[in-house]
Amino acid sequence: MSILVTGGAGYIGSHVCVELLAAGEDIVLLDNFSNAERTVADRISELSGRTFPVCDVDLLDREGLGRVFAGHDIESVIHLAGRKAVGESVSLPVLYYHNNITGTLHLCQAMAEAGCHSMVFSSSATVYGANPIVPFREDFALSATSPYGMTKVVIERILTDLAAAEPDWRFCLLRYFNPIGAHPSGLLGERPDGVPNNLLPYIAQVAAGQRTHLTVFGDDYPTRDGTGVRDYLHVVDLALGHLKALAYVRAHAGAEAVNLGTGTGYSVLEIVAAFERASGLKIPYIVAPRRAGDIAVMSADPAKAERLLGWKALRGLDDMCADAWRFASRAAEELN
Ligand code: UFG
Repeated sequence: MSILVTGGAGYIGSHVCVELLAAGEDIVLLDNFSNAERTVADRISELSGRTFPVCDVDLLDREGLGRVFAGHDIESVIHLAGRKAVGESVSLPVLYYHNNITGTLHLCQAMAEAGCHSMVFSSSATVYGANPIVPFREDFALSATSPYGMTKVVIERILTDLAAAEPDWRFCLLRYFNPIGAHPSGLLGERPDGVPNNLLPYIAQVAAGQRTHLTVFGDDYPTRDGTGVRDYLHVVDLALGHLKALAYVRAHAGAEAVNLGTGTGYSVLEIVAAFERASGLKIPYIVAPRRAGDIAVMSADPAKAERLLGWKALRGLDDMCADAWRFASRAAEELN
């Protein structure tokens, strides 16, 4: 029996695959490779010393998905496939709603046909919307400030409704805070196409000389130094959270939402300083106005993850930055 990992070649999915294989699980990696390189599957094999099937299938291809389930004995699904750029979702809402929501509905249909009823879903702290009360707890009301965020809210609702309607289903809805860092080998990490939207990939490209400076979006927030505070966690810790969630859905029916974060927030300028320490390089920056849609502070209450899943983030900020820099400097060398 295998675990199907949708979006398995992506930034988070690739780390999840490595940890599943290391734990002795068999996997089937599914990706449409729209935002991932095909070489990622080879790197996962290289790191794990294991081979596994790779399905180049889009979740919108309902028949193709049916063939994946018909051709493999799938026990549970870790569902990470989806579009994820907040700004792009504002310009292309139909694309986002169709891709993320229809794709998930197809997946549920194909799972039901195959008699597979357990899923770990990649949700996001974005489902807390513009909530001003920190830390965020799982029982807070959900809302969204972008179509991307709304796809996560709607999918959580669909899966929760499904579990309520049909008691066979088991879901763990993982609300990620800000995953950063890379595999310590330097072989896997985040390699965005074009100009990075997120802080760490942007800083890494400045450090690698691909961009002249970072733009800090706002220094007038009510925080320690005026810059935005986020709950950054190491992508390997995040990946290990999926293994704990998998163990949970194997044993429990229903749908549970769980935050994956450290509970500690860092400001943009603290991240810049940590990256400078890790890389030994200066990160020039300018301060610009706030970015539309950003809030001052986001941080997780991680208590439920520890209580329910037995998961806790173990890696600190210096490791996150050192690993991010190891991957980014290798990636920049490969480009030259
Ligand atoms: N920031 C900058 N300059 C940049 C990029 C970001 O100053 O070039 C700042 C932002 O203003 C924010 C912080 O760095 O204060 C983190 O920004 P990111 O874009 O890295 O992350 P966000 O918290 O905005 O977004 C993340 C995920 C989204 C998710 C959101 C809410 O990338 O997918 O958290 O959960 F929707």
